[in-house]
Amino acid sequence: MERISVMYHRKPGYDIVFTHSFDELPTELEAFECKGRKICIVTDSKVDEIYGEQLLGILGGCCKKVVKYAFPNGEKNKNLDTVREIYRFLIEEKFDRKDLLIALGGGVVGDTTGFVAATYLRGIDFIQIPTTLLAQADSSIGGKTGVDFDSYKNMVGAFKMPILVYMNLSTLTTLDERQYFSGFAEIMKHGLIKDSMFYEWLIENMYEICERDIKVLEEMLIRSCNVKKMVVEKDPTEQGDRALLNFGHTIGHAIEKAKNFELYHGECVALGAVAAAYISWKKELLSMDEYYEIRDMFVPFYLPISVDNIDPQEILKYTKSDKKMDSGRIKFVLLKKIGKAVIDQTVTDEEILAAINEINFSEEDAHA
Ligand code: GLY
Repeated sequence: MERISVMYHRKPGYDIVFTHSFDELPTELEAFECKGRKICIVTDSKVDEIYGEQLLGILGGCCKKVVKYAFPNGEKNKNLDTVREIYRFLIEEKFDRKDLLIALGGGVVGDTTGFVAATYLRGIDFIQIPTTLLAQADSSIGGKTGVDFDSYKNMVGAFKMPILVYMNLSTLTTLDERQYFSGFAEIMKHGLIKDSMFYEWLIENMYEICERDIKVLEEMLIRSCNVKKMVVEKDPTEQGDRALLNFGHTIGHAIEKAKNFELYHGECVALGAVAAAYISWKKELLSMDEYYEIRDMFVPFYLPISVDNIDPQEILKYTKSDKKMDSGRIKFVLLKKIGKAVIDQTVTDEEILAAINEINFSEEDAHA
């Protein structure tokens, strides 16, 4: 088992453990004196089917009482209605401030459960057990929690640090291809914004990553989580550098919304990353060769570099309703080189539209 400790405001925060089963969970929980506490596993219908009973069995012996709440799978349920249902369940089960929540699932489960943990009785401990690559690489670390509001992504939320992130890497073997590679986009992002050697390593290990070689996956996640740790330790509440993690997200979120969440988050991040790299080239931060290399490196990982039938004006409009604004200007994340991202507030509408056109694949292109 490997372990990374994440500091929070320069004080000891929480550990991320990397392992290959749920067997070490009871030992990990000993540090939190669970014998006198109730635990609620919050999960979704899909993950519940695979791991729900197993987790109930394992946790049964570690705490006063364990209960489970599963809500229907999917981004459309990451909302205040689900939060309300979880509050209701916790009240009925008489959960108090000393009790504990466990988020078992992907990003939707982690973000929603974390938000409940941040707000129920003004705050209750929670543990992240991420079961998707996206959640393991990104959303389970750093304490961003929240839900969507209408179709505005992550519009309501809070920072709430987990007390433990427990990664069972064997859960990655049950992911379908699309979901697995969607998560990989966030890993690629970490290399592109902060660590060129990691980026090179990803390319060198392309075959093993696509085949989900477990040893390579472990090294990949540890290196990726170390990038995220470094960023969130320096800037836990996104006053500065943490915004670099939004690389690919400004246009990515806009596409996600325009496509009515039919594309996966990581697929939209890949598209947004290509668009941001294109703007970086046009602003002469990146060379043309670097731009094409970045764009083409998403392809072997089954990630899209173009999308059909988007309306550039609609995407532009959505980029402006994104949270990543500062006094009315978009905080765009661009690349100065592979492994070095910068925040730029000078990107014009014309530059954004040109980038959207670059990734917009129309029927006409197909027949040209
Ligand atoms: N997913 C971006 C962040 O954690 O800041």
